[in-house]
Amino acid sequence: MWGIIATWRMALEGVSTSATALQAGSAAATSVVDAVVTVEDYPLYKSVGYGGLPTENGEVELDAAWMDGDTLAFGAVGNLIDIANPVKVAHALGRQRYNSVLVGQGAREWALSQGFTPKTMLTDRAMQHYRKRCRETLDKGLSPYDGHDTVGIIALDRQGSMSVATSTSGLFMKKRGRLGDSPIIGSGFYCDSETGAATATGMGEDLMKGCTSYEIVRRMAQGMTPQQAADSVIYELEDKLMSRFGRAGDLSVVCMNRHGEFGAATNIKTFSFVVATATQPLTVFRADRLQEKTHYQPVDDDWMQAYNARIRAPIEE
Ligand code: GLY
Repeated sequence: MWGIIATWRMALEGVSTSATALQAGSAAATSVVDAVVTVEDYPLYKSVGYGGLPTENGEVELDAAWMDGDTLAFGAVGNLIDIANPVKVAHALGRQRYNSVLVGQGAREWALSQGFTPKTMLTDRAMQHYRKRCRETLDKGLSPYDGHDTVGIIALDRQGSMSVATSTSGLFMKKRGRLGDSPIIGSGFYCDSETGAATATGMGEDLMKGCTSYEIVRRMAQGMTPQQAADSVIYELEDKLMSRFGRAGDLSVVCMNRHGEFGAATNIKTFSFVVATATQPLTVFRADRLQEKTHYQPVDDDWMQAYNARIRAPIEE
């Protein structure tokens, strides 16, 4: 068996290439990194890597992580500025015995010392979004925060090894130094090849309150199917946040077990994800909630065309 699953339509191209590699026998550990790099490099994805949206100071601070489900080794970077591929830095940190998590200036210095490529990650288009958001919110005294999309990718290889990787520019207009769930082990990602893996996207502040990815893997280890684990964790967390805090942000997850069975759950209207396995041809699904269950179906051509138009639409300045 082999398989790969990722959050959001933006992962399609990277997942497609890595699915072919996994089918041919490539390792999960590198397949997830390669797939995330494809997303990081694409300038029109405004919540990951190059072209990601900036902090309130107009800087792009990137977070990423990688985890190996065989050894439980992991690496993560936070608030990394102007390095081309944060997920590659996270992957390299995952092979260090110490200093697995580096943030800010220390992360940048380490990346440069290891030969990672410096690159200006702020694009003109991201600055156009930034100026528009300032005009529409900050200038009027309104909250600038809105949804944002992390890429999280899980792979299972033919040898039975699993890995997960994440990458995000985090909350648009976030404070300098803010971290979300994506570089936090157990919240934005978790992977154990003896059980399975999970990864999250949505509001990090709320996803972290449930240690969401670890909890999904734990429930799979106790015998739940991936879909049962994903649905139960997301809707229980949402209920708890609503009853104890009065609000719940966007919460979405994908997961896969060691047999290549997968699940997805969301509390938002439309969450897309991409999956390919030995028995499931490469497909983009759109997931919607129906009460306490997530239902999903393949997207159609109209959906894909609307998506392509949306990410290219001119930004009114
Ligand atoms: N889920 C990504 C973040 O909150 O930064």
